[in-house]
Amino acid sequence: MTPVRDRIVFITGASSGIGKSCAYAFASAGAHVIIAARRLSILEEIATDIREKHGVRVLPIRMDVRNRSEVFSTVEHLPAEWREIDILVNNAGVPRGLEKLHHGDPDDWAEMIDTNITGLLLVTRAVLPGMVERGRGHIINIGSIAGHEAYPMGAVYNATKFAVDAITKSLRMDLVDTPLRVSTVDPGLVETNFSVVRFHGDVERARKVYEGLTPCTPDDVAEAVLFCATRPPHVSINQIVIMPTAQASAMVVHRLPSL
Ligand SMILES: NC(=O)c1ccc[n+]([C@@H]2O[C@H](COP(=O)([O-])OP(=O)(O)OC[C@H]3O[C@@H](n4cnc5c(N)ncnc54)[C@H](OP(=O)(O)O)[C@@H]3O)[C@@H](O)[C@H]2O)c1
Repeated sequence: MTPVRDRIVFITGASSGIGKSCAYAFASAGAHVIIAARRLSILEEIATDIREKHGVRVLPIRMDVRNRSEVFSTVEHLPAEWREIDILVNNAGVPRGLEKLHHGDPDDWAEMIDTNITGLLLVTRAVLPGMVERGRGHIINIGSIAGHEAYPMGAVYNATKFAVDAITKSLRMDLVDTPLRVSTVDPGLVETNFSVVRFHGDVERARKVYEGLTPCTPDDVAEAVLFCATRPPHVSINQIVIMPTAQASAMVVHRLPSL
């Protein structure tokens, strides 16, 4: 095992869903966590709760992963005791819209591309040089089954998650002559705020996505992320695909009829 106790873990998109669960999972294993997202007040509440429950250090940070100068300045100006990041969880990501391409909104496309691809690249670019210098580190990207198989009305979200897959694989090759590891955890249906964001706040439509089946929880995914991080140093979990038992692919989902 590679213990994560007293390690520094940087998690993007930690104000909700999978990122938030990752923060609790790493903290429960004794790691100190930097939790980043745009909504600082929520992060501060999470930080207080994690400190109380797990007695680790938590640094909440407002950071928009799309903003190049903000990302580099945040990482550069981390307090000294937070600088040596051991694990980066690139989790911040958005789906926007679910419609045929010719009805799609280019603003939605830009938000997905800027967050899911550029954001992940920027944070990695800011954090990785320190890891390479120290000869120690692990990048864990949150991809998706949307990056393994395209589905109708998902072209741009699909493209961003295919990009995450390509970046992960290429980066692993770049780092093969170092002790650093690169993993992806690729979920199917996980009940978070994801679908509410996808449908621009339409809670009722979002609820229907998970109707008639038991979806994965964000804690299920966080457990897989922690598993990647805690393997012995010579073992790289390259990819974990995690779906509800009632889901066999992006499009094949078994739903019980509602009563
Ligand atoms: N839920 C699923 O079914 C599912 C399936 C496969 C993959 N995923 C992936 O899992 C990851 C997490 O999603 P989730 O399901 O946990 O959704 P979520 O509950 O909506 O959480 C998304 C997180 O990303 C943050 N975020 C969004 N845009 C950001 C930006 N520009 N800068 C910084 N942070 C940003 C949000 O925080 P703020 O709004 O506070 O910034 C939030 O903390 C995403 O990469 C998503 O693609 C989810």
